[in-house]
Amino acid sequence: MAHYPEMKGRAAIITGGSGGIGMATAHALAQNGARVFIADVDQDSIDAAVAGIASAGGEAVGRRVDVRDEAQVQAMVDACVKRFSGVDYLVNCAGVFKHVPFMRMRLDEWQETLDINLTGTFLCMQKCLERMIPAKYGRIVNLSSHAAVRGSALHAHYCASKEGIVGLTRAVMREVSEHGIRVNCIAPDIIKTRLTMTRDEQRQKQWQKRIPMGRFGEPSECADLILYLLSDASSYITGQNIWITGGDAVKTAKSAKQKETAP
Ligand SMILES: NC(=O)c1ccc[n+]([C@@H]2O[C@H](COP(=O)([O-])OP(=O)(O)OC[C@H]3O[C@@H](n4cnc5c(N)ncnc54)[C@H](O)[C@@H]3O)[C@@H](O)[C@H]2O)c1
Repeated sequence: MAHYPEMKGRAAIITGGSGGIGMATAHALAQNGARVFIADVDQDSIDAAVAGIASAGGEAVGRRVDVRDEAQVQAMVDACVKRFSGVDYLVNCAGVFKHVPFMRMRLDEWQETLDINLTGTFLCMQKCLERMIPAKYGRIVNLSSHAAVRGSALHAHYCASKEGIVGLTRAVMREVSEHGIRVNCIAPDIIKTRLTMTRDEQRQKQWQKRIPMGRFGEPSECADLILYLLSDASSYITGQNIWITGGDAVKTAKSAKQKETAP
């Protein structure tokens, strides 16, 4: 893990912070001296994440927050500012990934995924930016997905939400760059978390075959990229969507014929 001395004392909100990528990011930030605010929906996993960081010598607090709820998101930002005197970093990891054929997808299923993945990202960005803009400092990393680049059967709602996050990131970047704020997103392919590793073994083998590096990514590898984008090492990078895919990049004629069903 790279060391970024400028992170010491910075306040970081991580939504979905008790999930795979979120928790790896929270740990990496805490190891760099940042003060971490974990927001998620599951209180037990929030408590476990906070305890894990504390036992490794880091500083963290947690709060139950549903990112779809504007009042809860506002309360999250207010609590972070009260505790840590500001909010410097926001990492939007909260997300869901459900498998539904498009022709059977109900409006409420479509809406739920869009609400959590896309509207949640919008709300968290807007409420944090209310603090970041006057402070003339802020770094935001959003979670898109390589599934949105490729297209992924059974995931029309997910792909729409993740491609929406790319557009949201670029548009907001245009409005906040003059305030010293950078906004980027990352597009992982398959990373080993409970979001992806619950499906059957045969499907996992099928996914693995198309990855040039021949393996799935680790949450810590996403955390490394996220930290780079939050750090001063990426000082001239904003409005970008960085793929982290083990080499899976361009759709070949052969793979284009296959049904893609990965996140
Ligand atoms: N794992 C992958 O292969 C992969 C690939 C591409 C993108 N992503 C994206 O990365 C992000 C993190 O995913 P992960 O792999 O760590 O999965 P994960 O399931 O381990 O983590 C997601 C977290 O989001 C939380 N969450 C769900 N709904 C929420 C809500 N309404 N409010 C607040 N929190 C909520 C969950 O409780 C969970 O802790 C997601 O946005 C996901 O779409 C993951």
